[in-house]
Amino acid sequence: MFAHPAKHSLSPVMHNAALELLGLEAQYEARDVIPEALKSALEQLVISGAWGCNLSIPHKEAALTQMHHLSPQAQAIGAVNTVLVKNGFFEGHNTDADGFMRSLEEAGVRVGQTSVVVLGAGGAARAVVYGLKHAGAEVLIWNRSFPRAESLAQEFQARAIETSELPASIQNAAGLVNTTSVGLENPDDSPIADDWLPQDWVCDIVYRPLETRLLRVAKAAKRRTIDGLGMLVYQGANAFELWTGQSPDIKVMRQAAMAVLEKL
Ligand code: ATR
Repeated sequence: MFAHPAKHSLSPVMHNAALELLGLEAQYEARDVIPEALKSALEQLVISGAWGCNLSIPHKEAALTQMHHLSPQAQAIGAVNTVLVKNGFFEGHNTDADGFMRSLEEAGVRVGQTSVVVLGAGGAARAVVYGLKHAGAEVLIWNRSFPRAESLAQEFQARAIETSELPASIQNAAGLVNTTSVGLENPDDSPIADDWLPQDWVCDIVYRPLETRLLRVAKAAKRRTIDGLGMLVYQGANAFELWTGQSPDIKVMRQAAMAVLEKL
């Protein structure tokens, strides 16, 4: 994986545990790559015979122009999180949307044509909105700065909502997804008031801490909750499948990531 900074990534332990279990002689490393060095780091992948890499902040968007081929998801989301090296060429994929949807499925959530409110309109929200729209959901986007919500909504045929509409929109929705960094900055902070809850489920894609205030409150009110580790594990599992053609053990990947989170 190429990221900057790279040292806090959970991906190496997750992937190495899965590789080892399958007896694959390969290693996953996190490399600190500054933006100016992305091109040469990618070239180095080909020279070293690597299967590919993950990309994280700040390379996901910049990599679009470096790819020879883009998957429909990477193209629509406008970001590459997984590179597959094929005969010396780069295929750019985005496994975040499918990873997010698999984490909902694992919790028994069937999005169907229900209504879902998404908080935030940044990079992570793009993959979440893409995944939900493709599953057939009606998506309502709220963002601290409204214009960003509006442009994301326009791009993905969703609806942007103002702060004044937020409580009622949440209460009428089946699900709620937090893609803002609010719980990450302070575990006692929530992006919304504690009593604004949807009817069925709440997902917070923040995984540090695993149980954010938003999820704690939702669980106490008997809503189904989905933490951010699921999306992290499944986006990794999807990338693993692209590189190796094999399905990794999800439980082992999750346990490896959990072990690191518990030490923090
Ligand atoms: P990411 O790739 O993780 O989505 P990002 O693109 O920087 O990161 O987006 C961060 C999101 O969190 C944005 O929606 C941001 O809102 P703004 O567009 O208004 O900046 C949101 N966010 C960050 N801090 C927030 C806060 N204190 N309250 C509400 N939203 C916040």
